[in-house]
Amino acid sequence: MKKTRIVVLISGSGSNLQALIDACAAPDYPAVIAAVISNRPGVFGLTRAQNHGITTAVLDHRQFSGREEFDAELQRSIDAHHPDLVVLAGFMRILTAGFVTHYLGRMLNIHPSLLPLYPGLHTHRRAIEAGDKTHGVTVHFVTPELDGGPAVIQAVVPLQAGDTEETLAKRVLVEEHKIYPRAVRWFAEGRLVLKHGRAYYQGEPLPPGGVRCN
Ligand code: GRF
Repeated sequence: MKKTRIVVLISGSGSNLQALIDACAAPDYPAVIAAVISNRPGVFGLTRAQNHGITTAVLDHRQFSGREEFDAELQRSIDAHHPDLVVLAGFMRILTAGFVTHYLGRMLNIHPSLLPLYPGLHTHRRAIEAGDKTHGVTVHFVTPELDGGPAVIQAVVPLQAGDTEETLAKRVLVEEHKIYPRAVRWFAEGRLVLKHGRAYYQGEPLPPGGVRCN
């Protein structure tokens, strides 16, 4: 079996990266992490990768004159590893349309909300402040619209009385670590594709929230 090569982009702690590293450790998992690239030096996600002998690179966005220049170098750095799939795992950068288009249909992101609710930052706080009963997480294909690409899979997390941003984020992360390896597996097995702007799972177009896994 030829494994799907993935490049993971991070900016921080990399707990989703860890979930993918752990998944890839199973012999029958159909993907392998070719490299991990961070736009921030010294983050723990880099250590996690190095602990597992995975190639890492740092491209510090502050060293570039603008978004176009950074994204052009990032694309070169990614493509040097010939990935089949690019996985954004807590990568805190807005990407240019040209970059996103280059990876259209082969780039996934995980976002801690039930998209289309709460694109952007501070999703947990916004769900609590809105008095929502449920929150959650979405894996989606990346398109030029921020957090706006077709959803692949969602997990729901009920809010609890007294939830803070931290307690809620912690429970959402538990679900993130389950659904991201699952979405990557589907992609690697050829069961998940982006076609004419829609996500398809096993040949069927997915509903707006993608597959609801709980
Ligand atoms: C996660 O909540 C993810 O959904 C969001 O950024 C966070 C990254 O966490 N995009 P980690 O670095 O994977 O621990």
